[in-house]
Amino acid sequence: MTNAELLEQAKAAATKAYAPYSQFQVGCALLTRAGNIYTGCNVENASYGLTICAERNTIFHAVANEGPGMKIASLAVIALGQEFPPCGACRQVIAEFAGPEVEVWFLRDGKPFSMTMAELLPASFRL
Ligand code: THU
Repeated sequence: MTNAELLEQAKAAATKAYAPYSQFQVGCALLTRAGNIYTGCNVENASYGLTICAERNTIFHAVANEGPGMKIASLAVIALGQEFPPCGACRQVIAEFAGPEVEVWFLRDGKPFSMTMAELLPASFRL
């Protein structure tokens, strides 16, 4: 699985987004250390705060399938027609299941671009 393929899977997942309020369709794909790929999209709600981002939806899906030992090997996130790195809340959730060396892929200037978790969330909270 190349990083370009992971981004392609994230893009496909974005087409499934339920985003009637923001029109911001986000998709995520992650590869686990066990070698499985999971995808997910954002799902919004009329009570806005109940919205779930694509990254957290995908991570929770991966845990539901692999169990509490799930570890992220790499993750890609994409929004249709927009470029952005994961939001702060999702960075904290990614950090729960990824080491500081894990690469997070997104688009920058139309091209795949990655940052490590150490770069995206330095000094992350840990219990
Ligand atoms: N969103 C994500 O899915 N991931 C992010 O990292 C940022 C924001 C979603 C939440 C909401 O449905 C829409 O994008 C606009 O904020």
